[in-house]
Amino acid sequence: MNVPAQTVRPVRAGAMRTATRLLALCIGGEGRTASIGMLLMLTGSVLGLLQPWPLKFIMNVVATKSAPPAFLVSAQNFIAHVIPIGNNKLALIGLLCLALLLISLTSAAISVLSTWLLVSAGLRMVFKLRCRIFEHIQRLPLSYHDGTTVGDSLYRITWDTYSVQALFNEGLVPSISSSITLVGIAIVMVGQDWGIAVVALIIGCVLLVLVRRLEKPTTELSTRVHENESRVSTRVTQTLGGIRAVQAFGREAHESKRFAHQASESLKASLRLTVLQTASQSAVAVLFACGTAAIIWMTARRVIAGRLSPGDIVLMVGYTALLFKPLETLAYTASSIQGSVAGAHRVFEILDKKSLISDSPHAAAIKTPVRGKIQFDHVTFGYKPDQSVLRDIDLTLPAGSSVAVVGPSGAGKTTLASLIVRFYDPVHGRILLDGCDLRDITLASLRREIAIVPQDPVLFDVSIYENIAYSRPAATIEDVHAAARAAGAWDFIQALPAGFDTLIGERGVMLSGGQRQRLSLARAFLKDARIVVLDEPTTGLDAQTESDVLAALKRLMAGRTTIIIAHHLHTVRYVDQIIVLQGGALIQTGTHDQLLEQDGLYRHLYNLQHQPHLQSAGVP
Ligand SMILES: Nc1ncnc2c1ncn2[C@@H]1O[C@H](COP(=O)(O)OP(=O)(O)O)[C@@H](O)[C@H]1O
Ligand SMILES: [Mg+2]
Repeated sequence: MNVPAQTVRPVRAGAMRTATRLLALCIGGEGRTASIGMLLMLTGSVLGLLQPWPLKFIMNVVATKSAPPAFLVSAQNFIAHVIPIGNNKLALIGLLCLALLLISLTSAAISVLSTWLLVSAGLRMVFKLRCRIFEHIQRLPLSYHDGTTVGDSLYRITWDTYSVQALFNEGLVPSISSSITLVGIAIVMVGQDWGIAVVALIIGCVLLVLVRRLEKPTTELSTRVHENESRVSTRVTQTLGGIRAVQAFGREAHESKRFAHQASESLKASLRLTVLQTASQSAVAVLFACGTAAIIWMTARRVIAGRLSPGDIVLMVGYTALLFKPLETLAYTASSIQGSVAGAHRVFEILDKKSLISDSPHAAAIKTPVRGKIQFDHVTFGYKPDQSVLRDIDLTLPAGSSVAVVGPSGAGKTTLASLIVRFYDPVHGRILLDGCDLRDITLASLRREIAIVPQDPVLFDVSIYENIAYSRPAATIEDVHAAARAAGAWDFIQALPAGFDTLIGERGVMLSGGQRQRLSLARAFLKDARIVVLDEPTTGLDAQTESDVLAALKRLMAGRTTIIIAHHLHTVRYVDQIIVLQGGALIQTGTHDQLLEQDGLYRHLYNLQHQPHLQSAGVP
């Protein structure tokens, strides 16, 4: 697959800072592996620089009458003492070929080892960064998660974290090794002939310019290929996601046509990209051949003039070929750093986000045993600064009492419950638990005392047992079973083929709304918390299931401070106190009987639900 290259831009100072910051954050613990890897890589580079030399000597031995360099002769004599190879020209050439092979083998081995060390260090950095960002993002307040899609967070954790590896393995490491290789080549070439060295450098630069010129259209085309590919996937998801509608309306042929159209766009773009890539590669090859010819010409003239040996032709051509790689790497390092910095930024956007809901410096664990008295002291709250969802709520829930919150949808009932769990903090006013401001209690100790049954039960794709035990992982099997019994979930769990081991979700059974609700309740039972918050626990259940769940709820509420948000008013008759919310304001408080006597919203809602014939009689 073609991956779009990043557009080439110089690295800005800010980007450099981000890159350094990310590397500094993750490199801890990898220092030793990284240094050994770097050292090996440099050794490999130096060995690579030796590669053209045996060829030069072979050429000279073959093509000239002059004696080989003294160190070669003594090396040959030394080896001749050990193995009988003789000391003729052919034996020397054989030795040089062996040297060529040895250089190749050693540098290949070193390259494998150093790449392994460096890449594994880079990947471990990704691992550490992923764990860190996952740990952090879970603790960010709900206000953060409200404003972010799961897809975005998923991308940052799974893909953007690779930016640290890219910075290390495609930025830092190659820029160091290429710089050193380049200096090495320059020293050798200038040592032989500075004129040829300058020409080789110019050829290298011209090649670089050509490659970069060709890069822009290639990038554009490969981006288009990507876009088209993703549209193909989108078509598949949309059609299969709505397969019921497609089949029901008999639109299969229409969907196939749309799919074929999209797939053919993708095909065209891929073909164009292939043509462009092949043409670019040929252009670079031709230019490289021209450069090589020029170098050969220049060196050959010097050989004829007696200033260089025939072997130097091979040497110079060899080095010209070696020159291009580090030049190219250095030229691309900037853009690969730039590209990774975008990911690094997105990683830091999360890591730099402080948890707004965090323990204040003087927060202490809640005093136990918790009695469970909750007070709202003139609480005002809004999700956005300019609009308040709850206004001046003043309310006391005595310890161990039950309160029902009723009101039209959108009145702020769920919001009120969220404030008790401290998913959000009030904008004005305070919420007190046993007389202590929630903000002065450590979050962990506060949430230990509260069990919440959310409006939509949250179940994970694990067994029923694990789902219930989620609220108290240390619970015994007996506890979990007792909680399931209390929540009225025992019978249906037993009826499932695998009982408590049944997997929920994609790989397991699908549960009905009432069953999910009862598992959610069992979880709250198991937690055995002092305070229970139930958000419309019976909404969407049929009459029989509702009465089962209600019976379970009554058991759960006994002896605990309970806040139950209810839609059906008949479900809340037995609570100690009912509060009526409308438009974020508390408009009525009292028991069921008291509220029915008042001519207010409660009676109106009650009548609507229980005496439908009054609806048309114009009762307010
Ligand atoms: N996470 C949120 N971000 C922004 N606004 C929200 C959020 N949750 C609820 N609201 C808004 O706050 C108001 C009260 O919502 P909610 O407490 O859920 O009402 P209820 O539970 O009584 O139906 C509604 O206007 C709703 O649109
Ligand atoms: Mg709600």
